[in-house]
Amino acid sequence: MHPGSSDALFWTAAFNGIKIVIYVAANSNCMFTILTGAQFGDEGKGKVIDLLAENYDVIVRFQGGDNAGHTVVVGGKKYKLHLVPSGAILGRRLLIGPGVVLNPHVLWDEIQVLESEGIKLDLGIDAKTSIIMPYHIELDALREQARTHKIGTTNRGIGFAYVDKVAREEVQMADLTDPDLLEAKLDEIGPAKEKAIADLGGDPTVVRHSPLIDEYLQIGLRLKERVADVSREINTALSEERGVLAEGAQGAFLDVIHGTQKYVTSSFTTAGSACANLGVGPVMVDNVVGVIKAYITRVGEGPMPTELTDEMGSRMREKGGEYGTTTGRPRRCGWFDAVLGLKSVYLNGYTELALTKLDVLTGIDPLKICIGYDLDGESIGYPPESTGMLARCEPIYEEMPGWTEDITEIKEYDDLPQNARAYVERLEDLLYVEQVGNSIAAVSVGPGREQTIFRDEAADQKI
Ligand code: GTP
Ligand code: IMP
Ligand code: MG
Repeated sequence: MHPGSSDALFWTAAFNGIKIVIYVAANSNCMFTILTGAQFGDEGKGKVIDLLAENYDVIVRFQGGDNAGHTVVVGGKKYKLHLVPSGAILGRRLLIGPGVVLNPHVLWDEIQVLESEGIKLDLGIDAKTSIIMPYHIELDALREQARTHKIGTTNRGIGFAYVDKVAREEVQMADLTDPDLLEAKLDEIGPAKEKAIADLGGDPTVVRHSPLIDEYLQIGLRLKERVADVSREINTALSEERGVLAEGAQGAFLDVIHGTQKYVTSSFTTAGSACANLGVGPVMVDNVVGVIKAYITRVGEGPMPTELTDEMGSRMREKGGEYGTTTGRPRRCGWFDAVLGLKSVYLNGYTELALTKLDVLTGIDPLKICIGYDLDGESIGYPPESTGMLARCEPIYEEMPGWTEDITEIKEYDDLPQNARAYVERLEDLLYVEQVGNSIAAVSVGPGREQTIFRDEAADQKI
């Protein structure tokens, strides 16, 4: 919180016996908030960002690409967004940061769809944003086909675009706005890409002769006016006491360092990376919001200790609509894993959590919560570092009674069935980290904006 901000209102909440002061900015405000997914992605970040966006002036995406798929439901209308930040529907300043990998074709389509719905976009794209070229998508598909142990990527070229960023061989947004620059870049890096594709049995002409390259250039020229310096814009906004919300994609355990390597995406999905990716100092951060589902899902390969491959898993999938927004793949579902959840609070330093999809658990009795693992005969309360060891972990559960009442129309926390409140509060206890003082500040009971319950009365005034 920036001291001296006159229009910020704050409220206090007492959870876990600790008094927490949560500052909430009203309308024009001066906060820098980072929001990330606390599990394996698809926690419902789109809905929560859309909800919070009202209180911020700038919404900025800081990592990932069109592998992400946010679903936002406003007034019963569904918007599926892959690249445009979720605040789009509210008409905020939207930014795509240089840590994102961008498929111009996907972005252009999204802009067209939103604008055809009458949504005018005030969108800036950092000049240094890496472009996902057609050869990245080709390489992604070829490499995945060749793998014995598949990752189950979204096949959007994400990993190979990040490889090129780190290898200093990327095409950047600014290159797309100038045909000469792009041609020179492709002449420089093209031969190595052609060889890599040919070695994997693919068609190397995709590198310099794909018809998509011309299309990319056309889009680049149309986007030229939107090219921005995102770090500068954010720092300027904060110095003028305007609020900035940094939106993450995917989730903590898909992080390329801290996730379940190799079954991860290729970007840094945890909160700390927002500062590095956006070029904002860590001292500017006021809040870190984690979005976490009342159960857990994963799409793609990799360990998930509480996975349910039985009838209960299918029930969660059908009731929760757990099919990928980007790929349509069925998501693997399982009981809430508080062991992973606690690690997520550590990885991100969440100050507040938004618990989503509580309504999906209605009618399930008993509910199970994973509170520890059995690893080769030993009980542990924190996930092992190695992915192989995590795959061997057997969940240790505690059970809680469920509820049968429909909760999707409930607006006040106290009106939730007692067993639902007990479930929320048990998760809150299990995820509590004293140094951070985190709490479950909001509970989502349906996809709509209005289907959100705040844990403190004063919060209703702001969202
Ligand atoms: P990624 O960035 O791809 O990780 O996605 P995301 O976190 O934005 O989530 P995504 O939109 O892919 O999936 C969440 C789905 O659940 C969407 O269809 C939402 O409309 C829906 N949803 C969000 N909150 C709730 C809720 O509380 N209850 C129910 N039933 N559905 C919800
Ligand atoms: P990639 O990001 O396409 O390389 O995919 C790597 C892994 O991350 C795969 O298991 C994907 O299913 C997963 N993944 C990538 N993006 C998302 C997402 O937005 N939600 C959930 N899983 C994702
Ligand atoms: Mg998603």
